[in-house]
Amino acid sequence: MKKVERIISYTEYASDKELTPEEARLLREAEEATRGSYSPYSHFAVGAAVLLENGEIIRGSNQENAAYPVGLCAERVALFYASHTYPGVAVKAIAITAKSEIHSVKDPVKPCGSCRQVMAETEYRSGKKMKIILKGETGKVITFDGTDNLLPFSFSGEDL
Ligand code: THU
Repeated sequence: MKKVERIISYTEYASDKELTPEEARLLREAEEATRGSYSPYSHFAVGAAVLLENGEIIRGSNQENAAYPVGLCAERVALFYASHTYPGVAVKAIAITAKSEIHSVKDPVKPCGSCRQVMAETEYRSGKKMKIILKGETGKVITFDGTDNLLPFSFSGEDL
């Protein structure tokens, strides 16, 4: 028997002004994407922007439903649409943010477990890691190099 420890790492930035121009642009696209959110139940508008290796940017936002579990997160809307539109093209980066009229979104938005699993499989399919850029409405930004840092023990096609 042995105890195993795994270290995850991420980078904190005081504001989006410290990001590269490409990262800052993707974050702005994610902020724009919140405008497409349909979130009358949570009042939490999430926006995601996916940068593909071919240079295309695909946006997505959360889409809710009166039957709550039927809705879908912004990240999966964007990633599934990117996969549908550009099959086989790797994802270089995803930016995620949120805004709300009733909550104050001070901290960077953390993607839910299901979205992390989809991000992990997106990397698995292409064999390439993506950068993940997270921000709230204001303040600091955090970035991760690869989903392994967000979901260290993802379920993979190899487990089947
Ligand atoms: N949501 C996302 O769009 N992405 C996440 O990673 C977490 C949560 C959405 C789902 C729901 O519409 C609202 O945020 C509140 O949970």
